[in-house]
Amino acid sequence: MKASYIEEHGGADIQKYGDLPDPVAGTGEVIVDIHAATVNAADAKVRAGGTYGELESFPHVLGRDFSGVISALGEGVTDFTIGDAVFGACDRGQEGTYAEKISMKAAIIAKKPDGVSHIEAACLTLTGLTAIISVEETLQLKSSETILIQGGAGGVAGFAIELAKHIGAHVITTCSTGNVDYVQRLGADRVIDYTKKDFTEVLSDVDCVFETVGGVVNAKSFEVVKSGGRVASIASGMLAPTSPRDDVISLRPAVGRDRPHLERIMALFQSGVVQAPPVKTFSLEQAPEAHRISEGRHLRGKLVFVINQG
Ligand SMILES: NC(=O)c1ccc[n+]([C@@H]2O[C@H](COP(=O)([O-])OP(=O)(O)OC[C@H]3O[C@@H](n4cnc5c(N)ncnc54)[C@H](OP(=O)(O)O)[C@@H]3O)[C@@H](O)[C@H]2O)c1
Repeated sequence: MKASYIEEHGGADIQKYGDLPDPVAGTGEVIVDIHAATVNAADAKVRAGGTYGELESFPHVLGRDFSGVISALGEGVTDFTIGDAVFGACDRGQEGTYAEKISMKAAIIAKKPDGVSHIEAACLTLTGLTAIISVEETLQLKSSETILIQGGAGGVAGFAIELAKHIGAHVITTCSTGNVDYVQRLGADRVIDYTKKDFTEVLSDVDCVFETVGGVVNAKSFEVVKSGGRVASIASGMLAPTSPRDDVISLRPAVGRDRPHLERIMALFQSGVVQAPPVKTFSLEQAPEAHRISEGRHLRGKLVFVINQG
């Protein structure tokens, strides 16, 4: 199969394009011919090494979510047939969607509805899983509450804005000037352009924060939460950052993969609660360019590899 892969850690240009052996389906697994795979912020961090540690073996194929068509079944798979369109995210510890094929555990993927494109399904998967688990399950956001969503124009945060509005909460978000209209269209009630105003000067006593930016934004987020409030952080490592306040809880969402969550994402999309984000598409050969954009950290929507589509 053709794939984009790395043979060592390094910059965006370290990514190569070429032939790797086809995967083989183990027991309980299926082979998916990938039609769309997205770039997630984690991909460049894994490629660079450091944040997520060093990879144990090379060549390594990056990428964590996909939509495609099943082309082979492993032993014991009874819930899919060859030709089924499916979507999903790799299990924790697994990567490899920047490729024409991947072997996936059947139990953690879901059928893609006919009216939903492969690009739409792939775009909604890891961002949707992360947003649902963070907003509904970790923060347990209620309709009476005010939430600050940091970095509203990003893939995860955009989904989170729509979900929080659907829950009925009052939604405040931060973004740069060029994204103000975009996050308003997603439903944000109040937008703080961080290039013009420091959110700590205009906000106080929010019930909770969904923090997707990291660094100093994370540290300052604790200042604007009311006593008894909570901060859920996804861009500050795998552990919850230490809360600087005794009266504010710091949480780190544990984003697992399972079919019920994927089906919920699709139901939210099909009922119009969440929209497909704006996309920029690439071929696998263009992985270096896609990573340079992702690493710029000013993306609106999603970057998508279009694969196996003629
Ligand atoms: N399972 C997990 O734990 C999980 C899953 C997915 C993502 N993540 C992490 O979550 C983070 C976000 O991921 P993503 O894919 O949503 O990112 P993304 O799509 O690359 O978006 C990054 C966003 O951050 C915004 N931004 C940058 N600096 C900002 C600032 N100072 N204040 C407010 N917004 C700012 C940018 O908007 P502007 O252009 O408007 O600045 C951009 O839209 C990443 O660190 C990623 O690794 C974790």
